[in-house]
Amino acid sequence: MELSKQIDIAVNLLIEGKVIAFPTDTVYGLGANGLNAIAVARIYEIKERPSFNPLILHIAHIESLQKLTTCNDPRVYALAEKFWPGPLTIILPKSANVPDIVTAGLPTVGIRMPNHPVALELISKAGFPIAAPSANKFGKLSPTTAQHVQKQLPNLDYVLDGGKTSVGIESTIIALREDGFEILRPGSITAEELCKVVPQAKYTIAHDTIIAPGMLKSHYSPNKPFYIIGESTPAEYATSNAGLIAYSPYESGGFKKVVYPSKSGDLKEYAINLFATIHEFEDSDVDFILAEPVPEQGVGIAIMDRLRKAAYPYKSKQF
Ligand code: TXA
Ligand code: MG
Repeated sequence: MELSKQIDIAVNLLIEGKVIAFPTDTVYGLGANGLNAIAVARIYEIKERPSFNPLILHIAHIESLQKLTTCNDPRVYALAEKFWPGPLTIILPKSANVPDIVTAGLPTVGIRMPNHPVALELISKAGFPIAAPSANKFGKLSPTTAQHVQKQLPNLDYVLDGGKTSVGIESTIIALREDGFEILRPGSITAEELCKVVPQAKYTIAHDTIIAPGMLKSHYSPNKPFYIIGESTPAEYATSNAGLIAYSPYESGGFKKVVYPSKSGDLKEYAINLFATIHEFEDSDVDFILAEPVPEQGVGIAIMDRLRKAAYPYKSKQF
């Protein structure tokens, strides 16, 4: 079926208050009408997401900001001008139009404009912002293809297939502060790039969206033991049943399967392929997964954030 017809079907379902999956530039989203509290409640239910963890609103036009936030800070418009549509979520004071369930009761709301033609057409045609978390079960791996979504959420009403996502990891999330900004979740847009738009800004990296401190450390976990070499590997491990997510030309002898998310060591390319690589290992016959650390600079900060979250639940376990 033509893509525009598929988008129309998805729009109609959204108008009826249903939940659908759709592609964005970063990862697939699990979307509902962001102004319909009952529809948004279904997202939490399907995702099995705790109700204290708020959702992002996705918009297609900058004018929508005025309806959703009470903030007129010119820095927001400067950031939007430079990075939207794109993988940047800005946390802003919410307006009364935004249902409390979207923000999990917080006075702020995360907003972004995804850089994906299907997402933009979907939001435009729907005529309302789409509330969407990543389209995975809570705590599990994020999806970068429609097939990844179907693997975890086989009973969804509709999955719009827009192919593989182009960024591969979730958006950078920032909150503006008086003298700069705080990065609540690192992503492909880096602190250095943001500083060019908000001059003389001071910034901090929170390394997590701290809603309830410590509770969200184990996002993005694969269903097989996952370790970072040199950080969380158990003292003794055999390589014979292990998969290796490699970065540098590693002495990879003995591993059952080795995948390079980027053969040339390009961190953006690595990020694009990261979740797909972990999904591939989940579906393969390796018993556990090792990842070689990448340099913590630029997008490498976001990559190490995702690797550590994947490894977190397995940190102290032996196999
Ligand atoms: O790239 C992305 O951002 C993807 C695509 C689908 O847009 N979405 C995504 O959503 O990653 P989700 O729900 O998986 O992650 C959003 C994060 C959550 O950790 C949530 O706690 C945080 O954003 N968040 C949302 N609203 C917030 C707020 N008002 N204050 C602080 N953190 C917030
Ligand atoms: Mg998520």
